[in-house]
Amino acid sequence: QVAAASGHTVVLVDQSDEILKKSTKGIEESLKRVTKKKFADKPEAGAEFIKKTLKNLTTSTDAASVVHSTDLVIEAIVENLEVKNQLFKTLDKFAPEHTIFASNTSSLQITEMANATTRQDRFGGLHFFNPVPMMKLVEVIKTPMTSQKTFESLMDFSKAVGKSPVSCKDTPGFIVNRLLVPYMMEAVRLFERGDASKEDIDVAMKLGAGYPMGPFELLDYVGLDTSKYIIDGWHSLEPNNPLFAPSPLLNKLVEEKKLGKKTGEGFYKYK
Ligand code: 3HC
Repeated sequence: QVAAASGHTVVLVDQSDEILKKSTKGIEESLKRVTKKKFADKPEAGAEFIKKTLKNLTTSTDAASVVHSTDLVIEAIVENLEVKNQLFKTLDKFAPEHTIFASNTSSLQITEMANATTRQDRFGGLHFFNPVPMMKLVEVIKTPMTSQKTFESLMDFSKAVGKSPVSCKDTPGFIVNRLLVPYMMEAVRLFERGDASKEDIDVAMKLGAGYPMGPFELLDYVGLDTSKYIIDGWHSLEPNNPLFAPSPLLNKLVEEKKLGKKTGEGFYKYK
């Protein structure tokens, strides 16, 4: 959405036409929200903006067959290193020489993905934040093999889609998740100990620290499965780090498929 809205030609790839139809519909709805604000006094210009953006966007279920016309690939598939590596390995065969590969992973190592390809110097991380149309930040991740030219291209692309990039080495969680995830887990532990209610913890962090959402609202928004995946991965890397300790409550909710806003229930219930 943000790439298409800023004039880039985008091919959105997913596993089925059904998913792509749902994604395109989601982008249309999201564009309407953005447009309502951006073009409040000019509905005609807003309609034109939506039309132009959607014209920049096509879809495909076959990444290998469309990658030949790309300058940049942004991967945002399931957080499973083997699956990601397999995808990058395939795309590496069909993509032009100059094409840069980037992963939007939340917590996996970019270096390991780069090593699945023959273009380690043209590989980096581009980590966006939910909801992407609203959040201004992009973390640009440079591995020891990322060339300066690739790094600069990723910084330039981030600015071209209207974001403010920051750079970080390929360390677990980069900047935001390395600070945010332990903070959210500490909130869960505070609640698990019975020291405060989740409602009060949320109110406290909104009114006392100026956060737009409390930690439980944010956990539900990000998805409890995603948060569990991140913390479990770090726990296996550093089992003695108390900040990365798993939470029985979070594990229970995920087991019950209460994954947050997207499933209608997480820490809170949604209509
Ligand atoms: N698409 C387009 N526009 C959107 C949108 C979306 N998905 N969500 C919100 N907006 C825009 C709309 O313009 C909306 O106006 P509208 O109500 O007229 O449609 C406007 O935002 C305001 O939205 P709301 O009134 O619903 O709510 P808020 O003013 O409270 O803002 C928020 C919503 C921007 C989500 C704010 O609550 C916020 O900043 N929350 C924290 C988000 C955060 O921390 N994200 C990072 C998560 S971590 C992550 O992503 C990393 C990953 O690796 C796990």
